[in-house]
Amino acid sequence: MTMRSVKSSVKGSKTAGARLAVLIVIVVQTLGLGAVWPQEPTEPRLDKEFDKQEKIYRSQGADVPSGYVTNRGLSDYASLLPSGFCDMLGRLSNSDRWLDIGAGDGQAVLDYYASEPTTAENCGRSGTRARAVAMSIEDRRTKKWQLQAAILGGDRIQYLSGKRLRDYSVEELGKFQLITDVYGGFSYTEDLSRFIGKVLSLLEVGGAFYTLVQNVQLENGKDKPSSSFQTELVDSAGRDIKMCSWLKQTPCVNVGCESKNDWDTPTELVNIHKICSDVSVQPTKLLRYEAGNPPGRRFQLEP
Ligand SMILES: C[S@@+](CC[C@H](N)C(=O)[O-])C[C@H]1O[C@@H](n2cnc3c(N)ncnc32)[C@H](O)[C@@H]1O
Repeated sequence: MTMRSVKSSVKGSKTAGARLAVLIVIVVQTLGLGAVWPQEPTEPRLDKEFDKQEKIYRSQGADVPSGYVTNRGLSDYASLLPSGFCDMLGRLSNSDRWLDIGAGDGQAVLDYYASEPTTAENCGRSGTRARAVAMSIEDRRTKKWQLQAAILGGDRIQYLSGKRLRDYSVEELGKFQLITDVYGGFSYTEDLSRFIGKVLSLLEVGGAFYTLVQNVQLENGKDKPSSSFQTELVDSAGRDIKMCSWLKQTPCVNVGCESKNDWDTPTELVNIHKICSDVSVQPTKLLRYEAGNPPGRRFQLEP
């Protein structure tokens, strides 16, 4: 049985299959085989796309699709993330924490910890280094990672894999002053509101999330007329909603958007600063998902 938590997104009837799934879950939990929860069945069409997406995550060597880039370094992060990212990284103290969601090989974290800057860009390297956690669904640690982790010892850098962001509790991960996501969970998740909700729950008040999403309806309205969007958001009546407009409705956060309409792929750079703790994200439901790098998705806001 595939353990997917898209239950809130794709509603299905309570079939015999669903009841069987619940029974299996109870047996598994009774036997102490791990913490899982019942899933409502998803549409078979979506299941097929999720399976294709899993194959992309698990791909290795020559099988990795060319668009699935997993080795961007810190200088790539500096040029892709909203302005302010490097300053924020540079302000972190020794005891602060940085989470990179969808870290791939973890190269950005390695660059941050490199003793000699390998790039002309000196992003975030102020002398002190925060503790860094790189998270990926699949384990893409390289020999370089293993070596650096061994040299640094302790928990200065950590690599988490084997599950998605939503599968970790706040207690398990702890809180962070800085969270980044470069073509990671934000671009790939099938449950947008749950993803953002989890990110915000992991941020300390005063902390910030820096990310980007390509091929969305841009905040500045300068989309090319022929644009077809890879990530779409509609309200309950089916009208288009801009990603930034939706995010800006969230209480207790300040959202900044930089629309890059002149990039090859029009992209919204998003920074979200958490200013108080009472955060709640308007729920979204998944309407369409097509596997890819990143996938095509259509979400609907739920009242
Ligand atoms: C295209 S790679 C990007 C890697 C890296 N950020 C880079 O730019 O080179 C996508 C990464 O996002 C991860 N990912 C996708 N959805 C995720 C989720 N919900 N939680 C954690 N990681 C996720 C994948 O496992 C993979 O590590």
